[in-house]
Amino acid sequence: MARLALGVCLLLLPASCRGARDREAAEAPRPERGAVVAEHPLAVEAGLAILDRGGNAADAAVATALALAVVYPQAGNLGGGGFALWVPREGAPTSLDFRETAPAVVDPAWYLDEEGHVDPDRSRRSPMAVGVPGTPAGLEELHRRHGSGRLTFAELCAPALRLAREGFVVDDWLARSLEEAAELLSRDPAAARLFLPGGRPLAEGALWVQEDLARALELLAERGAQEGFYRGPVAEALVASLEEARERTGVRGAGPDRQDLTGYRVAWREPLVGAFLGHEVIGMGPPSSGGLVLLQVLSVLEGMPLRAEREADGGPTPRALHWWIEALRRAFADRATHMGDPDHHPVPVEQLLSPTWIARRRISIGEHADPDVLPWAPDPGPESGETTHLSVLDAEGNAVSLTTTLNASYGSGLVVEGFGFLLNNELDDFSILAGTPNMFGLVGAEANQLRPLRRPLSSMTPTVVRAEDGGVRLVVGAPGGPRIITAVFQVVVRVLAHGQGLEQAVSAPRLHQQWRPRVTRLERGFGEETLRALREVHGQPLEEAGNATFASVQAIEVGAGGEVRAVSDPRRGGVGGLQGRPLPAPRPAGTAWR
Ligand code: DON
Repeated sequence: MARLALGVCLLLLPASCRGARDREAAEAPRPERGAVVAEHPLAVEAGLAILDRGGNAADAAVATALALAVVYPQAGNLGGGGFALWVPREGAPTSLDFRETAPAVVDPAWYLDEEGHVDPDRSRRSPMAVGVPGTPAGLEELHRRHGSGRLTFAELCAPALRLAREGFVVDDWLARSLEEAAELLSRDPAAARLFLPGGRPLAEGALWVQEDLARALELLAERGAQEGFYRGPVAEALVASLEEARERTGVRGAGPDRQDLTGYRVAWREPLVGAFLGHEVIGMGPPSSGGLVLLQVLSVLEGMPLRAEREADGGPTPRALHWWIEALRRAFADRATHMGDPDHHPVPVEQLLSPTWIARRRISIGEHADPDVLPWAPDPGPESGETTHLSVLDAEGNAVSLTTTLNASYGSGLVVEGFGFLLNNELDDFSILAGTPNMFGLVGAEANQLRPLRRPLSSMTPTVVRAEDGGVRLVVGAPGGPRIITAVFQVVVRVLAHGQGLEQAVSAPRLHQQWRPRVTRLERGFGEETLRALREVHGQPLEEAGNATFASVQAIEVGAGGEVRAVSDPRRGGVGGLQGRPLPAPRPAGTAWR
């Protein structure tokens, strides 16, 4: 790998470098066992069972994601989309974009009220919120291209189908989340029948059978994504459900139609590959901002004396936290201005990761907060932008890091009649009106403007880190909107720069900075002295987030001798499962934050 000046190697690695890395991978010790980490124990079991049957990480990831569509309807989905990284033990890493797409007929003006302001209901809870789903095509494609070949796609659908048909017991996480979403779900008759039987949210302990969803899964398993989802009865029902919702709510604009569905395509994209403290960091490129922001921040910080800025427990000093905040602020400024769908707007990836720009960003960080920092601009002189995550490792050493979403929890709240699955509200991830924040407070510009057939910019950050010997060191990702990026970053930097153990790094309190608003928000758990130093020494505007928690990291770490740790964020109810070991007991809701 070519090391560039300033200790940073950040450009997309040329194929020759990647080849060298691929050969080294064979020398890394094999992981002692496979692992699956996700936000529901039944989905983890589904993935582990596939590994036990000889499936590889791609097979297990597909089965886990499909099971999440049944047992974790907040975010697991057929009606949403996502991104997956495939990092094989040997051969080149690849990344799959199965992000939702705007319909061919769409107009930002539909989303504005009489005064010209964005009406959030239209981009979040109406048929106009819905992007063409990518998940069925994406999961099928991941299996087709990278599956072991030992299991058919239908076999990977089987655990989800069983869970839908035979039912599963509603846990307290789902019951609580349905209580919170009851108002949204009561608006759509099909959603109300599914989630609020008898007018009340499904209760903890109830056996929940989803026959409609089982029919959709069966069609997917038997006919494949094109014939079983994007055409035929499911597609007809999807279009009819949107039509019904349009009439019921009286919205003006459209939403995906038959042609949009049959026209949907996944995209294989070059992953972004950078370096951090002797490790190779592999991330998702546009239309996600995740990999680009993560690599920008890590590269800016790599040139700081991070290892000297450690507290007794290995964690960062206030000064290091100040650097984190300032690096994030700068990268999110670039995100807001330059990042979007690369098929429709040029994203200056190389410039944003160039050693010159990274060095300029780094030297612009002083001892004081700089909330008015500006984004990258082309240089005129000669020197010239509710989700769920699963991480899988197989015993061969192949890894999949996959994040999938409906956008908000339960997406648009619209359910496809007769097939029992929710539709996303991903179009709110666009910048509908420049400078108007979306549901995550993110602002954008032309790069991420809502336009026909574009994919909205994402913050999803599926990431794999490889060690010097080419073996997988970390598989990581999270839900949480833009807090995905900051959470993944903080876990990576705590493990690689601060030497903290994975459990400690994942459970440590997090901060979040996304350029606009200027303030940095902090979870509970930072010490008084740290907060004082950040405010008084570094002039950082801070806001404590009370009971709120940021993101939910699902991570696997492989040690130098091949030992495997699987950690699901204690903030939520997921589990880390290891092949050949009993699953840890699920965490009851409400015990998330200590
Ligand atoms: O792609 C994105 O960035 C958002 N649609 C992700 C939404 C999300 O993570 C909500 N989760 N908790």
